[in-house]
Amino acid sequence: HRTLRVALLGAGSVGSQVARLLLDNTDELSERAGARLELAGIAVRDVNAPRDVELPQELLTTDAHELIVGADIVIELMGGIEPARTHIIEALQSGADVVTGNKALLASHGAEIFDAADQVGASVSYEASVAAAIPILRPLKDSLAGDHVRRIFGIVNGTTNYILDRMDREGADFDEVLADAQALGYAEADPTADVEGHDAAQKAAILASLAFHTNVPLEAVHCEGIASIDAAAIENAKNAGYVIKLLATCEQLPGEGADGEAISVRVYPALVDREHPLASVRGGNNAVYVEAAAAGPLMFYGAGAGGRETASAILGDVVSAARRHIAGGVGIGESARGDRPVAPIGRI
Ligand code: HSE
Repeated sequence: HRTLRVALLGAGSVGSQVARLLLDNTDELSERAGARLELAGIAVRDVNAPRDVELPQELLTTDAHELIVGADIVIELMGGIEPARTHIIEALQSGADVVTGNKALLASHGAEIFDAADQVGASVSYEASVAAAIPILRPLKDSLAGDHVRRIFGIVNGTTNYILDRMDREGADFDEVLADAQALGYAEADPTADVEGHDAAQKAAILASLAFHTNVPLEAVHCEGIASIDAAAIENAKNAGYVIKLLATCEQLPGEGADGEAISVRVYPALVDREHPLASVRGGNNAVYVEAAAAGPLMFYGAGAGGRETASAILGDVVSAARRHIAGGVGIGESARGDRPVAPIGRI
């Protein structure tokens, strides 16, 4: 077998699990990939920082650049825009395929990253960026490529679903359950990104781009969080037969004139009928409900947050990237292109 050098950037809750699973299952994953997957190193800010998962100290380095230039596959799990963006561009330009879970970066700089990949015939895979372990991006990009997606309703933020679910079932207090969501590893480093809907908005932009085969920028996503949802709102919804869920909705709207069909992408706390399949999504789980013209309704359901769960999606992308890499580095675009009209914020 040929050996492929895998560089990991970041050893937070997802990165450390990726390292652990890759080290523990090297033989099996290498067999599936058709190449020896060697974890060449893990770039971190501080090699002595305490970690939940034990990692071989000799793999840790603070020199991301050195790791990237020698790698065949670069896994970016640092999060945030910089230096993640610079590292990904550098990785692509030095001939590596990239796997990332960085929804913030893709939602705001996706077009730039995909163009950089196209220019060198490399790939960027990002299944982990939306709904963690749930396979949803490849189904939208590949399995449904022969269909016409009409709309998507997604519960794509585990933290807020966990909070709303416990408030609904136990009448629990917002702050207390937020602390529990953080302890379970669901919440972002700054949980306001979850509570205010920004995390879900980033995922909505990625889902809409793939579903509607066009670039939907983050600025086009209407975003409202759950900060205003209190016990009374939950109780009122319950009495009327609804449950409140933070939904990401992506829809095609009939456009006017030359605009053709426009796209509306929104994140907001919605009243979901208790009989709807999305109403039964519990705890930190996610679900993405897709309606396609020929396929009809489909629902993708499972763990939407958590280090180990997200690591599953990352490693799936690593195996696929390795297969592509040894097949001659043929760039298979994973990105959505085009500039179809996006509806003004708030238009429904
Ligand atoms: N903070 C995110 C969530 C993690 O709660 O869903 C997964 O992207």
